[in-house]
Amino acid sequence: MTVAYSQQGAIAVLTVDNPPVNALSVAVRQGIIEAIERAVADKAVAAIVLIGKGKTFIAGADIREFGKPAQPPRLTAAIAAIEASPKPVVAAIDGVALGGGLEVALGCHFRIATPRAQVGLPEVKIGLVPGAGGVERLPRLIGLDPALKMIVSGDPVRADRAASLGIVDAVADGDLLAAAIAFAERVLKDKTPLRRLSEMPLNASADWRTLLANARSTAARQNRGQISPLRAIDCVENAITLPFDKALGETQRIIGELIPSEQSKALRYAFFAEREAAKLPDIDRSVEVKPLRLAAVIGAGTMGAGIAMCFADAGIPVQILENSAAALDQGLARIDSLYQEMVQKGRIKAEEKTKRVGLITRASGYDGIGDADIVIEAAFEDMAVKKEVFQRLDRVCKADAMLASNTSTLDVDEIARATKRPESVIGLHFFSPANVMRLLEIVRGAKTSKAVVATSQALAKRIGKVGVVCGVCHGFVANRSRGAFTREANFLVDEGALPQQVDKVFYDFGMAMGPFAVADVAGIDVGWRVRRSLDATRPNDMRYSPTADRLYELGRYGQKTQKGWYRYEPGSRTPLPDPDVETIILKSSREQGITRRAISNEEILARCLYAAINEGAKILDEGIALRASDIDVMWLYGFGFPRWRGGPMYYADSVGVARVFESVRDFQRQHGALWTPSPLLQRLAESGKSFAAP
Ligand code: COA
Repeated sequence: MTVAYSQQGAIAVLTVDNPPVNALSVAVRQGIIEAIERAVADKAVAAIVLIGKGKTFIAGADIREFGKPAQPPRLTAAIAAIEASPKPVVAAIDGVALGGGLEVALGCHFRIATPRAQVGLPEVKIGLVPGAGGVERLPRLIGLDPALKMIVSGDPVRADRAASLGIVDAVADGDLLAAAIAFAERVLKDKTPLRRLSEMPLNASADWRTLLANARSTAARQNRGQISPLRAIDCVENAITLPFDKALGETQRIIGELIPSEQSKALRYAFFAEREAAKLPDIDRSVEVKPLRLAAVIGAGTMGAGIAMCFADAGIPVQILENSAAALDQGLARIDSLYQEMVQKGRIKAEEKTKRVGLITRASGYDGIGDADIVIEAAFEDMAVKKEVFQRLDRVCKADAMLASNTSTLDVDEIARATKRPESVIGLHFFSPANVMRLLEIVRGAKTSKAVVATSQALAKRIGKVGVVCGVCHGFVANRSRGAFTREANFLVDEGALPQQVDKVFYDFGMAMGPFAVADVAGIDVGWRVRRSLDATRPNDMRYSPTADRLYELGRYGQKTQKGWYRYEPGSRTPLPDPDVETIILKSSREQGITRRAISNEEILARCLYAAINEGAKILDEGIALRASDIDVMWLYGFGFPRWRGGPMYYADSVGVARVFESVRDFQRQHGALWTPSPLLQRLAESGKSFAAP
């Protein structure tokens, strides 16, 4: 039974039991209706409690059902049945009540939650709007402004906040079911009137038009290019101006348009891609996850400091080691000021800052980190340096410590060979700024043990990152595929485009920043060093753009020197086109013997993205990435690829692999060997298949 029925005294208990997350599949919807009918009909029942089995209430609609023909009964019918019950219905919420789950709870007359419960309407995040009365009921319950924020952001709120907003009537410590039954009994005793939200007025303040206008402009800015938050605001507007049923009808019409939309499909794909990335064919729950109680970071530069903050943010004590006391002081000062900024922005409280800063301590030399369960090396990106660090770690670290390198390019197996315990060595590649970017590329070496991989995945989750496992190659998956993208961006500039044109194409595509603005943030000097590390292996006849090297030679390192591909006003991070850069570019084109030409935006998009896709296909073929969707997840979380476009490999599928392949072949004819099509791309194109279904 997906909805179990039982009775405790005069209270009927309806338990939704649809593992893993009690999603509202057709059987659950039907089950709710039948159970409510039974309870209403049963004279021995005076009130009803609706609860979820397991750790959660209801995680929402079954996302896998979207896009398939809808099967009756609709969720709105189940919720209407609950709300219409003449007997009080109490929702007992543990875990999450999300989307349809919260809508079910809003159909109940009362709500009670555990302290750890969370409630929210995340539909906009999968390109939809709450379609079963959430948009209409929530503002009636808590007022327009807070409801609007929850509906448009999709972010859940915790129980205490839900209580202060009035979403839940009580927060119950201890046994939830017992508390819900006691609550129901009190409702009966006090004859508390039933609250049917659909029958209540929606009291919008006089300035609601301004409120919605502001919400629209914020949504357009924060979720650039994404339709669903704007459509959700349209639904809220209908909820204000139309009677409940009419507004709900309109919402259903809008959701009917959104479900088959490309954006919603891509966002749903991204949801599952992210969960898929956590699964490895040879690692299951039986693999032991090591406890991580103490961490150490080698290097207090930008990366090291950011990584230390990730641990402190998760409450894990972390030691930092640096070569010189001055460098360590500088790193610690940077950490302090980053936390201070968070306090000033109201993101954390001052006490929280003190707590986190207190978790980060100075290590007294290598001998001081012998107890660490995990060490992450974030030293200079140079193989000799890394090997020396790992040799020392091998000498001082306890036997079962995990030894990780934050290298972004170097051979993790070679680093592992510097130790006598390669099974303990792994790459944990954070993205800059490490305390902000959510991607963690987990680079599994040839000898890395399963326990170390599983522990790295668990660590990613614990520190709020999205961990994606891959194999070893230069640049691994994320930077290698991204490298092809930036390579073409640089060539395009040599051929006739300017950085601002290229960046605008990708900004308009939905990326947070274009490749040249990103290069200025990452540091032109960093890119220069990476290119030097590749010099020895680059064939002499391979095309190479020297333009970024010219910037480097002029000391234009990017934002940190206020000059890079752009110029920056003091204290500002806004990239401004720089005539000096144009001069440098024109000169570079001349020196390379290139006659500059007008470059179309379409060419920019295709050259950069298809290069990344072709490289991604090579990476897949080589078995470095497990699945195309893993590459997509990396781009979503590492490079700000617009989520509503799914990711580069998904984008290839949506354009059509055959079309991408044809273009790659055209580019090969025009530009030579760098565009050699990946055999996988060719196979998929010729067999009419896709990256999603190879
Ligand atoms: N529909 C279908 N499957 C769902 C689902 C949903 N609404 N929510 C979660 N799942 C599945 C996941 O795909 C995963 O399946 P898998 O084990 O086969 O990979 C499983 O349930 C567990 O989810 P996961 O996200 O890995 O667990 P978690 O404990 O980290 O998080 C939730 C649980 C419910 C918070 C999270 O899954 C979530 O946010 N779900 C979506 C909620 C939502 O958007 N609801 C509105 C839909 S309109």
